[in-house]
Parts: sequence; structure tokens; C-alpha cells
Amino acid sequence: MTVHYQVHTDVAVLTLDLPPVNSLGLAMRQALAASLQRAQDDAQVRAIVLTGAGKAFSGGADITEFGQDAAFAEPNLHTLIAMVEACSKPVVAALHSVCMGGGLELSLACHYRIAAPDCKLGLPEVKLGLLPGAGGTQRLPRALGVEPALNMIVSGEPVAAALLAQVPGQKLITQLAASAASLGEEALTLARSVADVRPLPLVAALRAQHPQGDAYFQFARNMVKGMAKNFPAPAKCVDAVEAATRKKITDGLAAERDLFLQLMFTPESRALRHLFFAERAASKIPDVPADTPLRTIENVAVIGAGTMGGGIAMNFLNAGVPVKLLETKQEALERGVATIRKNYEGQLAKGKLKQDKYEQRMALLSTTLDYADLKDADLIIEAVFEDMGVKQAVFTQLDAVAKPGAILASNTSTLDLNQIASFTQRPQDVVGLHFFSPANIMKLLEVVRGAKTAKDVLATVMAVAKKIRKTAVLSGVCDGFIGNRMIERYSQQAGFLLDEGCTPAQVDKAAEKFGFAMGPFRMSDLAGNDIGWAIRKRRAIERPDVRYSKTADLLCEQGRFGQKTGAGWYDYQPGKRNAIPNADVVAMIEANRQAQGITPRKISDEEIVQRLVFSLVNEAAHILEEGIATKASDIDVVYIFGYGFPVHRGGPLCYANEVGLFNVVAAMQRFAKNPLDDAAFWQPAPLLQRLVAEGKQF
Ligand code: NAI
Repeated sequence: MTVHYQVHTDVAVLTLDLPPVNSLGLAMRQALAASLQRAQDDAQVRAIVLTGAGKAFSGGADITEFGQDAAFAEPNLHTLIAMVEACSKPVVAALHSVCMGGGLELSLACHYRIAAPDCKLGLPEVKLGLLPGAGGTQRLPRALGVEPALNMIVSGEPVAAALLAQVPGQKLITQLAASAASLGEEALTLARSVADVRPLPLVAALRAQHPQGDAYFQFARNMVKGMAKNFPAPAKCVDAVEAATRKKITDGLAAERDLFLQLMFTPESRALRHLFFAERAASKIPDVPADTPLRTIENVAVIGAGTMGGGIAMNFLNAGVPVKLLETKQEALERGVATIRKNYEGQLAKGKLKQDKYEQRMALLSTTLDYADLKDADLIIEAVFEDMGVKQAVFTQLDAVAKPGAILASNTSTLDLNQIASFTQRPQDVVGLHFFSPANIMKLLEVVRGAKTAKDVLATVMAVAKKIRKTAVLSGVCDGFIGNRMIERYSQQAGFLLDEGCTPAQVDKAAEKFGFAMGPFRMSDLAGNDIGWAIRKRRAIERPDVRYSKTADLLCEQGRFGQKTGAGWYDYQPGKRNAIPNADVVAMIEANRQAQGITPRKISDEEIVQRLVFSLVNEAAHILEEGIATKASDIDVVYIFGYGFPVHRGGPLCYANEVGLFNVVAAMQRFAKNPLDDAAFWQPAPLLQRLVAEGKQF
């Protein structure tokens, strides 16, 4: 049963009931249409209350239906809304918890709305690259006023009913209930008090007006242009709301429908919808059942209070979980704690953190030099030097002191997790938790599954990730895991581009125009060029066959490690992050070219971007085929949340699908013919070839 029908003397109460959020999929719409008809036909009923069971009035459309026939199947949301508006008996929407998207659009068709003060109302469609397509852009401005409605539609942010009720002249919230608990009774009272009032008030009959008209919409357009440069939806939201002020309701609804359909088929909306599902799917591991019992994690220990350890600790403190920090020396502990303090004090100064919260968080932090103090820890995360000998010493001691069932995690970014697990007698309890720097800020967490990691350990760390607000993605064990393994290929191409004729600034500009937060050279300067240098030195021994440009090594030989040394691919002024091109670096690249007898050529932005992005795509295909990633969408999540890949492209594999895999492979074959590039590098991964042959996508 998706809608409950109950008659309270003379009022029919229709309760949407489809956990978790009473979404308005086809089955719900059919049930609601039938219930409305029943109430209409029921002679005993004088008025109708529409409400939701559980944790929502309604969270809105069922987005799994997007792009499917089911979304349009009758009764669709438009039909349902028309039914409510045409109802001959008053319909009162009783709103609580959340009333979002299609849920709010449905309630706007009701004659009256009573809301619990903390009920959150919103039209979040813009976050999926869309606009509210069931009358929201036409009815909300009429009910609430043009400016506040446009703010809600363009931002997608929900607003509490208590705040909305204060908007002068608003007709959105007919009445605020005293509390969520009294909402039901108050809704019945309201319904009875208006049962005989005619004509029935309709939001659609109101007018949406703005005193400054043209000037206001011009201002709104300028605002959204600056805020959302890669997304067409916010500007279309402005168009739709403007239509509400200029057209009668039927024409306005038609204009909204047109704009909605235009957005539905944009690559940007496809990318955002892809990411919406990808992020939710990432925490699900195919062979780990959803009902796997979780281990209890009530306290955490972090080994190593350096760059990563401090940031990792902060995540847990922020979530109210006590943390014990362990170091080898008192000075190191003090330095680590001071850094955490400084970080919080920075937030205090900016007004992002309140004093009492800061004190609560610091009170959850304790320190030790003694492994014996870790005997009660539920989860222990190691973030010591990236050296197998040091890791061995740490894990041997952890094995000796940790309680049975404690989860032992390593933050290693390059070392073999299976070897680390083998230093213990309990490899099933060992897992990789690869945080990204700065660990208290970056959303991505790669969860590394060792050959023997237990399923309940994986399920538990996925839940822990959610608690500390990380987006976790599962990776198998390989050098670099998902993200760094791919970025290495990308850096290789960036180097070849310099050899062939580009400057670092040209490559970065092309990548940034495509939408990357930072081009490869600015990013390398930020991360530290010495990190890649160390990896290349190791690679040169392990895989002498791998070709790469020597320019990055030459740069490091000059001590130009990046922002931290004030000089890298670019120069940096103290305390500033602006990248200033350096003529000596450009001369060094030219000299290196000459030494190799290369005549530079002009390389287009298109070629730069394709070589950078398709190098990611090809490596991703290998990663998928080897089972290092369990699904293509996980790789997109890694790149969006960890590597600044442009959100409006949906991740490297979503982008490759958009370009067409046939075209991706054709470009790779072209690059393979370039004698200065690397033919082996561009050999398409078998999975990629197979997908092309079968006409499929990632
Ligand atoms: P770091 O050098 O800033 O900190 C390491 C800390 O571990 C130092 O404070 C040191 O005193 C302490 N330490 C060393 N041996 C110890 C032992 N036996 N017992 C207790 N403490 C010990 O290093 P960072 O950058 O924090 O890296 C730590 C780990 O995190 C490494 O495995 C690294 O690969 C990984 N990682 C680093 C990232 C980065 O961007 N820095 C990103 C992701 C992972």
C-alpha cells in the first residue's frame, strides 16, 4: 500500500507511505490518483488532508524513472497536480520533515498548506542540471514572491517553513503548526474550518510580479552566469521564473515544460544525474550484502601525527568520535596537536566553528607514546612514513596490543597492502584507508581491499566513511590504487606535451578551460614535484621500459619542488598561490627539446585535452578489467572527488561515453602514430576495444 486512505468523521486523510521518502514514482501516483477520486466520490467527506508517513511529506520524483518511459506514464505528476487543482473539495497539504521537488510541486496544487516549523521545503532539481518541471517555477513565485522563489529554484537549497512563513505577503504557508507532533490534529481542524469556503483558493490563480521587472531579471541572469559557468540550468531557471511573471499560468507551464525538456537532454544534466547515482552506488560492494553486521566503532587511534595523521584525526573529532594519537616522540605529538589546534583556530577566526564546538572537539583528542594504550581502540589508522620497514614495525606492534576484532587500517598510498597485512596474524582485520591531502577537507576516501580483508570490515569502514562525511570508493590492491595509478598516465602525457612543443602554462590553460580545477603542472606544484620524482626513480628500476619525459626530473634537480619551495613549474610569491610563469623553466624545456633533436610544433588545446583525458580513460579500462575497481562509476567518483575533474563532465568515463568510445579509440590510434609519443601507451585496453566492438559504453 503506497497511500493510506482514512476518514476522520468528515475529512479524508491521504497518507503517502513509501519509505524512505515517499517518492512519487508510478505506483505512488496511481495510488494517489485513486485515493483522490475516492475522497471526491465519498459523500461523507467534506475536505481532504494530504500528508506523508515516516521521515517525509515527500522527497519528490523517483529519479530512477528519469529518462525512462515510467516518468511520463499516466497518471504523471502533471495529471496528478491537475486532479488536485480540479478537486471540488478543499485539499490541505500537511507538510513535515522534508517536502522537496515534486513533493513541493504537488503541495502547491493543494488549496491550503499547513507545515511543521522545521519542515524543509525545496526545489533541488537544479542540482541535477534540471529545473522543476511540474509547475514549481510557475507556482512557487506566485505563492512566495518572485525573488525568494527564484533564490530557492536557482540554489536548490531547502528552507525551513518557519522562515518561509515570515516572507511578507507570502501564500505558500497558509498556517504554521505549533510542532510536528500537533500537525495532524491541526491539519484536521484547518480542513474542517475551510470545508465550506468557496471559491477554492488556487496558487495558479495568483499573480507573480516583480516591481523592477526587466532590471531584476537582468541582474539575476548576471548573478547566475558568474556562479554557474559550466551549467545551463540556473539560467533556464531564471527564464522559467520570468515566464511566470509574464504569462498566464497555462502558457507559463508550457514554457517551463519546454525548458525542462531542453535541460533533460544536456550532457551537463546527464553528468550530474550520473554522479548522483554513482556516489550512492560507490558505498555498495557487490559481494558484501547490505545487511552485513557491522563492527562497533566508538573510538579511534591514529599512528603518526604528521601531515595525514592530523587531518585524519580531525575527521573523527568533527564527527564526535574520540581519537588517540600515537607518535614516537613527545615533540612530534606536540607538533601534531598544535597543527590540529591551528587548523581549528583558523576556522574559529573565520566564524566557521563555534568556541564550544572547538573545545568539545579538542576534549575528544588524547595522545600517547605507548602502544599499550591502544588496547581498547576499535579502529586504528596508521599514517607513518611511507616505508615498508616502518610499516612492518608498526603493524607487528599493533598485532601484539590491539584487541580481537579491532580494525587495523593503513593510509599507505603506494605500498602493497597484502604485505602490510602479512605482518599480522589477522590479515582479515587489515584494510587500506587511503585519505587524500588535506585529509580533513578532501571528500574522497579509497577503501583498499586486501586479499584477505573480511567483508564485515569492508562494510564497517564504508559506514565509518559516511559518518565522517567522506565519499568512499572500493579499490583492489595495485600500485597507486585507482586514482594515483591513473594520474601517473596523465602526468606522463603532460610531460610528452612539453617535449613536443607546449609550455606548462599552455597545457594548464587548456586543461582548465576544459574544466579541471587545476592543470597538471599547477597541480604538481601544489602536491610537490618531489613526490613524482621519487616514484619515477623507483619506476626506472622496476619498469625501465616505461617512457617518460625527463623535464620533470630536470626541474627537481634544480630544487624546484613546487609551492612549498616557492618555485616549481611556476614561481610563487610568499604566502600566495598564484602561479607565475618562469622564463628559465621554459628555456630549460626548450634546451631539453633541442638536446633530443625535437622540432617543436604547435599543439591545439583539443589535442592537449584529449591526450590528457584519454590517457586516464585507457588506464581506467585496465583497472576495471583487472577488477581493481568494481564498477565504472566508482572511477568517475574517484576523479570528481579526489582529482578536481570537472563535475559537469561527470568523470572521465562518463565523458568518454559522451564523446563515444569509437571516437576515443580512433583518437588513441592517431596518437599512437606520433613518433614523439608512445605507441605502447596508446594501445587501447582490451575492455575498451571490446566495448567498441559491441557498440557498448562503460
Ligand atoms: P609525514 O612525514 O608528514 O608524517 C609521518 C608521521 O609519522 C611523522 O610525524 C612521524 O614522526 C610519524 N612516525 C614515523 N614512524 C613512526 C612510528 N614508527 N610510530 C609512530 N609514528 C611514526 O607523512 P604523511 O605525508 O602524513 O604520510 C603518512 C602516510 O600517509 C604515508 O604512508 C603516505 O604515503 C600516506 N599518504 C600521504 C599523502 C600526502 O599527500 N602526504 C596522501 C595520502 C597518503
